[in-house]
Amino acid sequence: MKLPFAESYKIKVVESIRRSTRGEREEWIKNAKYNLFNLKSDQVFIDLLTDSGTGAMSDKQWAALMEGDESYAGASSYYRLKDAIHDITGFEYFLPTHQGRAAENVLFSTLVKEGDIIPGNSHFDTTKGHIEFRKAHAVDCTIDEAFHTELDHPFKGNIDLEKLENVLKKYPRKQVPMIIVTVTCNTSGGQPVSIENMRGVRKLADKYGIPVFFDSARFAENAYFIKLREEEFKDKTIREIVREMFSYADGMTMSSKKDAIVNMGGFIGFRHKEHFEAATMYNILFEGFITYGGMSGRDMNALAQGLYEGTGFHYLETRINQVAYLGKQLRDYGIPVQYPFGGHAIFVDAKRFLPNIPKEQYIAQTLAVELYIEGGVRAVEIGTLLADRDPDTRENRYPELELVRLAIPRRVYTNNHMDYVAAALINVYDRRDKITKGLRIVKEAPILRHFTVELEKI
Ligand code: F0G
Repeated sequence: MKLPFAESYKIKVVESIRRSTRGEREEWIKNAKYNLFNLKSDQVFIDLLTDSGTGAMSDKQWAALMEGDESYAGASSYYRLKDAIHDITGFEYFLPTHQGRAAENVLFSTLVKEGDIIPGNSHFDTTKGHIEFRKAHAVDCTIDEAFHTELDHPFKGNIDLEKLENVLKKYPRKQVPMIIVTVTCNTSGGQPVSIENMRGVRKLADKYGIPVFFDSARFAENAYFIKLREEEFKDKTIREIVREMFSYADGMTMSSKKDAIVNMGGFIGFRHKEHFEAATMYNILFEGFITYGGMSGRDMNALAQGLYEGTGFHYLETRINQVAYLGKQLRDYGIPVQYPFGGHAIFVDAKRFLPNIPKEQYIAQTLAVELYIEGGVRAVEIGTLLADRDPDTRENRYPELELVRLAIPRRVYTNNHMDYVAAALINVYDRRDKITKGLRIVKEAPILRHFTVELEKI
């Protein structure tokens, strides 16, 4: 008999979670203004809001915390992290930051100015937020295949090189400070970018003299997909593939809360000393001195250890298999999801799930609210709320895809939890014809509105 697949770790510490009643949840979500960010965590049974900072640290990471060096300058924890980053990514220079968006803030303060154009593959919302906050523009050059959820394509995170070259041809070099490649591409469904595509981007970047930065939150999951799907790399180790990936970039921003499996942290990696030196001033101004930059010594230690664990093949196999385990149950039942399944989450195609809700009534948010009421499962909207308003016209931007993301925290839930999530969503699917009314906005912020928006039922 073929031995079945099993997790590559066992459980040492547990945390209780509480099931609630449907009546309680209806009350709670109404009081939360139909915004899932406003719920208290104990009002949630299974929390798939995000895979960011929600992972379970290992015994070795907890042990590393104890050895943290809290010296203001020159802490050994800084050097431990510097060595790990150099070893894993190949980048010589780095600046620690407190999380990924802080890395974006520091880097963009150096490179991005009003009127600039920043092409990439479906920039993440904080990345776009930091670009638009500086009155610059993010141009999405993702391949069209990414926007057809049922279309099978191994690398739906890829950049359309023709779209990219058109942007580079259209604008003068000084107006395009960088190209951003997000690995894996969160917004298009946790979808990977191939090495072949990275090579293509690098070639264009060299032709037009523009630096390439990777938004690297889920770089290890990207490498895992490359190993499985790109013939040339099937016999390479994850770490060899990671090195190869970053060899095509001039630098990286990192939210360590994802693939480095820590609860807080981030950094910027640089190939060139000039970029590093230019960013140093902003890092000191916004984050802290360059040898801690928003992180305590203990957190840098846990991060250094996490970088090694997060790039282990068996860990990644466990993780990606769990995400697919959930995805397969939904897909087998006929629920429309982004396929192939992403690395960190299953993305439900809300437009096809709830065809009766008009786009003005926030289709994906409506579905996320229904799923919460059904089973106490908290997911997140990746749709019109997240897309914000057009900065010039202030009209709603209706994205091609309205998605509900079920993000799986790393090493936290078992496959029984996945069965529960699948059953809850299937129950909503069975009553989808009765869901005919969505939500309307009562109050919203001018930028990144989804975090604080207040809604009511129509
Ligand atoms: N880039 C990507 C691709 C991300 O997914 C995130 C965060 C960031 C940058 C910003 O990092 O949160 O550490 O400041 N994504 C989280 C999510 C919030 O739920 O997908 P951060």
